Amino acid sequence: MKKIVANIKMNQTPSRSREYLINMISRFDSDKNVDLTLCLPYTSLYLGKLLLNGTKIKLGAQNLHEEECGSYTGEISGAMLRESGVDTVIVGHSERRVKFKENNNQINKKIKVALKNGLGVILCVGESLAEKNTLKTLETLKTQIEEALKGLYENELERVTISYEPIWAIGTGKNATIREIEYGVRAIRKVIEDDFSLKAAKSITVLYGGSVTNKNIHGITHAKGVNGALIGGASLEEGGFLNLISLV
Ligand code: PGA
Repeated sequence: MKKIVANIKMNQTPSRSREYLINMISRFDSDKNVDLTLCLPYTSLYLGKLLLNGTKIKLGAQNLHEEECGSYTGEISGAMLRESGVDTVIVGHSERRVKFKENNNQINKKIKVALKNGLGVILCVGESLAEKNTLKTLETLKTQIEEALKGLYENELERVTISYEPIWAIGTGKNATIREIEYGVRAIRKVIEDDFSLKAAKSITVLYGGSVTNKNIHGITHAKGVNGALIGGASLEEGGFLNLISLV
């Protein structure tokens, strides 16, 4: 079973989500061996809960706040997501790390609060172009994963997926090569082995994200150690996205 995650980002109003979900539900081939999660904007979540109820498609969110509740004007908590029907939440996407200055300590708290509220987590990690060029990919991945998963019990990793997302490949049309993807994914599993166990390293779900299209999806989802893909731009138009899913 391959895992496919759509990250819609800030790209759908509720009326557009309604149209998108109706098309996805009616045309998604649920017999295909694909575990599909659609990460919608907050304002479309409740609608997603109603429309996806009883289907095999899961509802995802793109972020949450690290505190349980309180005076955080404009923020969204894990409990709010859970009650809105969310199954899984993306944490630590590079757009949040870079544009909203999220750090690994905050990401660690977000993961803990998400798990506490019964949510699955997709932790995004990946190096910048400067880190890649100075051969710091391994070091970056290790720090991001170790700090993000600090204090977690091994059995909690069952609800954690890690997505390898080189920052230079996101939204740029420049996807990593299969070799680069396998290198990053191997490094991720090694950190899990060192910090948890070989069993955890083998069983954790690892995705790739960054300029995935219908041209490269098959090779990426069949790369060694890769369990699926996180898709931004190519998930926005349902016809193209369904075609991409058929090629997994
Ligand atoms: P992209 O986005 O597919 O548009 O590069 C990937 C992501 O959000 O991680």
